Amino acid sequence: MPTYAPLPVRFIKGEGSWLFDDKGDKYLDALSGIAVCGLGHANPDVGDAISKQANTLVHTSNLYHIDQQEKLADKLCELTGMHDVFFANSGAEANEAAIKIARRFAHSQQIQNPVIVTATNSFHGRTLSTLTATGNPKVKEGFGPLPEGFCHVPYDDIAALEELAEQNKNIVAVLIEPIQGESGINIPADDYLNKLRSLCDKHNWLLMLDEIQSGMARTGRFLASQHNGIKADVVTMAKALGNGVPIGACLTSGKATGLLTTGSHGSTFGGNPLASAAALKTIEIIERDNLAERAKQLGEYIAQSFKQTLSDCSSVIDIRHKGLMIGIELNSPCLELVMQSLEKKLLINVAANNIVRLLPPLTMSDEEADMMVSIISELIIAR
Ligand SMILES: Cc1ncc(COP(=O)(O)O)c(C=O)c1O
Repeated sequence: MPTYAPLPVRFIKGEGSWLFDDKGDKYLDALSGIAVCGLGHANPDVGDAISKQANTLVHTSNLYHIDQQEKLADKLCELTGMHDVFFANSGAEANEAAIKIARRFAHSQQIQNPVIVTATNSFHGRTLSTLTATGNPKVKEGFGPLPEGFCHVPYDDIAALEELAEQNKNIVAVLIEPIQGESGINIPADDYLNKLRSLCDKHNWLLMLDEIQSGMARTGRFLASQHNGIKADVVTMAKALGNGVPIGACLTSGKATGLLTTGSHGSTFGGNPLASAAALKTIEIIERDNLAERAKQLGEYIAQSFKQTLSDCSSVIDIRHKGLMIGIELNSPCLELVMQSLEKKLLINVAANNIVRLLPPLTMSDEEADMMVSIISELIIAR
């Protein structure tokens, strides 16, 4: 179905920060398959783990114990301080589990018409409930009737949420991205998540953090929310978890734990041996190579470089980043930059029409980063 509009290029091979097309040209990838290949393409250690697992046992279903899945759950809980994990196959499905947990939580509190609050400009997925949670009317167009029980407040606005709390006694959970990715790398005030945590505690709401894009060390900590020293009740992950092998996870702690009981939720593929082995190896490499620290340092280096090269460029409104979630906001729509940089053999993305969004692999070298900064800066200056 024509749900995508692919760019005129066909990749057949990858290696580290590079993709190779069917004509023999190579491209520097500053997007990592939309924050998925955090370790770069065709990472040999992940490749070995996948091939070893594929030659041993790919799938059994969750009717049986899965060793790799249990090890992965333990590792995720160790790194996040969470207690339980449900495994799915994508970000939308991980959020779907979170939404079901919020509904169960409501019913345990005798709230029959629960409301989950999300932010405007958020993105949570394309299933019916996650597109309803998403704070962007465009993704909902033509898909009504939409599920009930969602409302939106402006992002990074605690006062708006406090006001809503006064008006609506059916709120049971807040689902928020620690940094908004799809809408252009929106980074909230330093204490936003801390205030959210306090507000959720005050009203007995679940704090549910969508770390699908911001997790897996991309911002300089394993989870972006760890910069704030807070723990959510529910955390969702996907994207870079399997470095390209589809896997999602919904993690719970505290009062969110134990709400999904035996038989109340499930997935045929979720956390199967192959996906779990890929994720375990991905996390092992993130820890082994200290990639959270690398993301922090490289992000700082790239942002400083852009600030220098674009210092005199009046079309640049803002250059912002947390680790390797990088956004360059321009004063007018700049969608043409995607094709222009493709012609220069560089893969980038433009969000919200006027924000260059970069999500390079955590393993990108300084030299590759210099190349990326120089191509993008030249294109922006030449506009
Ligand atoms: C923050 C966030 N949540 C959820 C999703 C949906 O993930 P998926 O496309 O794997 O369903 C995305 C995808 O871009 C995302 O960035």
